[in-house]
This record gives sequence, C-alpha cells and structure tokens, in this order.
Amino acid sequence: MKPLAVVLGANSAIAQAIIAHLNRHYQVLAVSRHETMEVPEGVEHVQCDYSESALQSLAEKLQNREEPLTLLFCAVGVLHREGSMPEKKLAELNSEQLTHYFAINSIVPALILKYLIPVMPRSEPAKAIVLSAKIAGISDNRLGGWYGYRASKAALNMLVKTAAVELARSHRKLCLVAMHPGTTDTPLSKPFTRSLPEDKLFTPALTAERLWSVIDALRPEDTGRFVHWDGSDLPW
Ligand SMILES: NC(=O)c1ccc[n+]([C@@H]2O[C@H](COP(=O)([O-])OP(=O)(O)OC[C@H]3O[C@@H](n4cnc5c(N)ncnc54)[C@H](OP(=O)(O)O)[C@@H]3O)[C@@H](O)[C@H]2O)c1
Repeated sequence: MKPLAVVLGANSAIAQAIIAHLNRHYQVLAVSRHETMEVPEGVEHVQCDYSESALQSLAEKLQNREEPLTLLFCAVGVLHREGSMPEKKLAELNSEQLTHYFAINSIVPALILKYLIPVMPRSEPAKAIVLSAKIAGISDNRLGGWYGYRASKAALNMLVKTAAVELARSHRKLCLVAMHPGTTDTPLSKPFTRSLPEDKLFTPALTAERLWSVIDALRPEDTGRFVHWDGSDLPW
C-alpha cells in the first residue's frame, strides 16, 4: 500500500506539476476550492474552501483512511486578483487587500497545518511542505514594493518556523519546511514576468522536478528550514 500525499491548492500550476511526481510514490489526494478538476489517473480529488470547518471535516475523512499521510504539500497563495495588484507604495495600501493577503497566504496554510498535522504519523518519517516566496526574506528586502505579499509570506514563514519548533517535540520524524519554488510561469506570476529574461522564468514542470528532488532528500533534521528550490537555505 502506497502512503498518502495530500496536495492543497491543487489547482495551482506548480501543484499540478508536482502531483505528476508524487503520483509515482504516493496515493495522491488533490484538494482544491473547485468542485471538479482534471487529475491524472489514480489521483483523487476533494473540494474544500479552506474554512476551518471544511479543513476539520477533511481531517476527519483522512483520519479514517488506511494509508498513512506522510506528505503534505500546500501551494495555496495569492499575489493579485481582479481589480487589485500588489502595492508599490505605502499610499496604495488598503485594509481589505492586506486582509486578503494575510487570510490566503498566512492564515489558510497555518490552519491547514493545525488540522492536518495531527493526522500525520508520529512514528514514521513524514514531510510537510508549504510554498512561500524568497521575497518574504526580511533581511533580503532591498527592492521594496509588494507590501502585502511580502508581509503575508513573511508571516507565513514565522508560522511555519514556530510550528516546526513545537512539532519537533511531538512529531520527531516530521520535517516541516517553507520552500521557494523559483519564479515560475503560472497565472500568479503572469502579469509580472514580461521583462524577465527567459532563463529566469521556469516552467511549472521544471520547478516541480527541482522541488521534488529537494523534497525527496529532506530529512527530519531539516525541519524548520526556509529552503530554496536548489536545496540551499534562504535568509529569513
Ligand atoms: N509562480 C511563482 O513564480 C511563485 C514564486 C514564488 C512563490 N510562489 C508560491 O507558490 C504557490 C503556488 O503558486 P502558483 O504560481 O502555482 O500559483 P497559482 O497557479 O495562482 O495557484 C495558487 C493556488 O492558491 C489557491 N488560491 C488562490 N487564491 C485563493 C483564494 N482567494 N482563496 C483560496 N485559495 C486561493 C488556489 O488553489 P485551488 O484553486 O486549487 O483551491 C490556487 O490554485 C503560491 O503559494 C505562491 O505564492 C509562486
């Protein structure tokens, strides 16, 4: 019996590409807001709006499964949406947009950890990967701009790090990390990549290949890291 991998934000271009890798090693459950989505053969899909009640009922369903849940991959994230682009200046900040960034980029992944980590085994190696972004690095912020995205991903990093400290005691074999996938050609990055040189923008397939080789090599002692797609440590 293959172990179970749960991918949240499964409709994300990066998540879809990573599912192709996971599918070889795990029984994959793709979780997305959408009622239906196309998944490769053998992959299961479940709809979830990422509310606390929906995450709780997802956790209950997972608890009843035979396969151990040994991999969690969270790709949920937002950079822009219709009518609202990342803020370039202080004057462009507004509480509704900031709240949205924190709700989707920080709070949803934290609640995913709250409800799904308890379903993961304590006695065997397991991995929880949360996609963050390099520009969340506070010490590395030289360009400015994108206030809400940067701040909400920095908050996500702190939530992941804090959870990793706690879980190192209760789930000694769990590796929980925040990962930067690299600038990838997806709907999230589309409006901002026009001036990027080709070698700085990766396809979702290449990103997934790189992420998978790093994820595959992660060990429990790597828990709490902020990991670049090449496997190196990123500055917080
Ligand atoms: N693309 C890049 O260059 C890049 C760079 C650095 C970091 N990242 C991070 O990598 C992750 C995946 O990004 P991607 O480029 O693959 O983006 P994407 O294709 O836009 O996918 C993001 C996913 O987040 C979920 N999501 C978006 N808005 C939401 C909302 N309002 N409410 C609830 N869920 C929402 C959706 O999941 P469902 O529809 O499946 O529920 C969506 O598929 C994100 O966390 C992103 O910040 C991406």
